[in-house]
Amino acid sequence: IDVKALRGATNGVITLDPGYKNTGSCQSAITFLDGEKGILRYRGYAIEELAEKADFLEVAYLLIFGELPNKEQLEKFHADIKSHSVVDDDVKKIIDAFPKSAHPMGVLSSLTSALTAFNPSSVNVDSEEEMYNAIVRILGKFPVLVAWTMRKKRGLPLEYGDDNLGYVENVLKMMFKSPNHDYVQNEVLVNALDKLLILHADHEQNCSTSTVRITGSSHAGLFVSLSAGISALWGPLHGGANQAVLEMLEAIKEDGGDTKKYMAKAKDKNDPFRLMGFGHRVYKNFDPRAKIIKVAADEVLSDLGVEDPILDIAKGLEKEALEDQYFVDRKLYPNVDFYSGIIYRAMGIPVEMFTVMFALGRLPGWIAQWREMRLRKEPIGRPRQLYTGETLRSFTPIEKR
Ligand code: ACO
Repeated sequence: IDVKALRGATNGVITLDPGYKNTGSCQSAITFLDGEKGILRYRGYAIEELAEKADFLEVAYLLIFGELPNKEQLEKFHADIKSHSVVDDDVKKIIDAFPKSAHPMGVLSSLTSALTAFNPSSVNVDSEEEMYNAIVRILGKFPVLVAWTMRKKRGLPLEYGDDNLGYVENVLKMMFKSPNHDYVQNEVLVNALDKLLILHADHEQNCSTSTVRITGSSHAGLFVSLSAGISALWGPLHGGANQAVLEMLEAIKEDGGDTKKYMAKAKDKNDPFRLMGFGHRVYKNFDPRAKIIKVAADEVLSDLGVEDPILDIAKGLEKEALEDQYFVDRKLYPNVDFYSGIIYRAMGIPVEMFTVMFALGRLPGWIAQWREMRLRKEPIGRPRQLYTGETLRSFTPIEKR
C-alpha cells in the first residue's frame, strides 16, 4: 500500500473500533503473529528456534536491522553498544532524588526521558547514521538504568558491571554485585534470562509498542518515545501483569492455597478480580512464549534446587483453567507472564522489578518499530473519534450557573 497516497484520505468515513481490535495501524515487516495457531516469528524466524539457538543481542540486531548478523557485524554492534555504556554522573543525582519507595517503572521511565538532556544529539535524528548512533547509545545505557533502579531499591551503591562480559551477563552483574560478597556468575541464570529477554523482545502492535510508534510519529526523539512505551508497559493489563501474577499467587498461598476459590472469583462478573497471567488480546489458543517459559521455569528451579510452592499453585490454576468451561469458552490460556515471574523470583529479582525486566527485553522491539516507522516516513498518528457530547450551547455567566 502506498502510505503517501492515503495521506488525508478519510473519505468522510470514521471507523469506531474501541481497543483497536480490528484496526491495523501500520504495515510492518518485523514480527509475524498468528493468534489462532499460536505462531510468533521475528523477521520470519520462529520464536522457538530463536529462544533455543540465538542470544539476546543477535535477536536485537535481527529485529532492528532485519537480518541475523554475521560474526563481524555482531562484534561491531556489541562494541558500539559498549562504547556507550556509561551514563552521565548527574543521572545518579536524579536517582538519589527519588524516594526509595518509588516504583522502579516510574523511575525507569523518568530516567530514560532524562537521558535526552544529557544526549541532545540523539533527539533530532533523521538519517540512518543518526538513528544508528541513537540506537546503540540507548542499548548501552538502558541496562545501566535497569540495574541502578534495582540497586537504588536495595540501597546498593550505583556501580557499573564489567564490559568484558556478554550483554546479558553484564546486566546481571550490574544488578547483583555487592560490596559484601563476590559476584559469581551462574550460567543457568544467564541462559534463562537470555531466553526470557528474547521471548519478550517484540510482539507487533501491542499497547506499549503502539505508544512508542505514535509518540515517535510526532518526531519526538527515540528516548522519549521509549519512555512513553515504558509508561504504557507499566499497567497490569500489559507488562505489569508479571508483577500482578506473582502478587496474586502469593495472595492465594497466604490464603491457604485454595485455587478453586480464586477460579470462582475470576468468573464472578460482580467481582473485579481477574486471573492475572490468563488471556491475551491476540492469542486465542495458546501463547507460544508461555510454553517455552513454562519449561524454562521448571529447569531453573530444578537447577537451583528451589522448591517453590508458588509454582505448584501456578500449575494447579493452569490445570483447572484448562478444564473450566468459562476459560475454555473465552479462550483464556496462560500468557507469557504467567511463568516469567517465577523465574525472576528464583533469580532473586524483587517483584517490583519484574516489569522493568520486561522493558529490558522489549527494548529492541520498540527500537525496531520506531526505526521502521521513521524509515517508512509514516504520518503523525492521530486517530479520530465519534463525538457524543452536547451540541451547540450558549455560554452561561458564572453567577447564573
Ligand atoms: N480472568 C477472568 N476473566 C477474563 C480474563 C481473566 N484473566 N481475561 C479475560 N476475561 C474475560 C472477560 O471478563 C470477558 O468476559 P465476558 O465476555 O464474559 O465479558 C472475556 O474474557 C474477554 O475479555 P476482554 O477483556 O474483552 O479481552 P481483551 O482482549 O480486551 O483483554 C487481556 C485481554 C487484557 C490480556 C485480558 O485477558 C486480561 O485482563 N488478562 C489478565 C491480565 C494479563 O495477564 N495481562 C497480560 C497480557 S500479556 C502481555 O501484555 C505481555
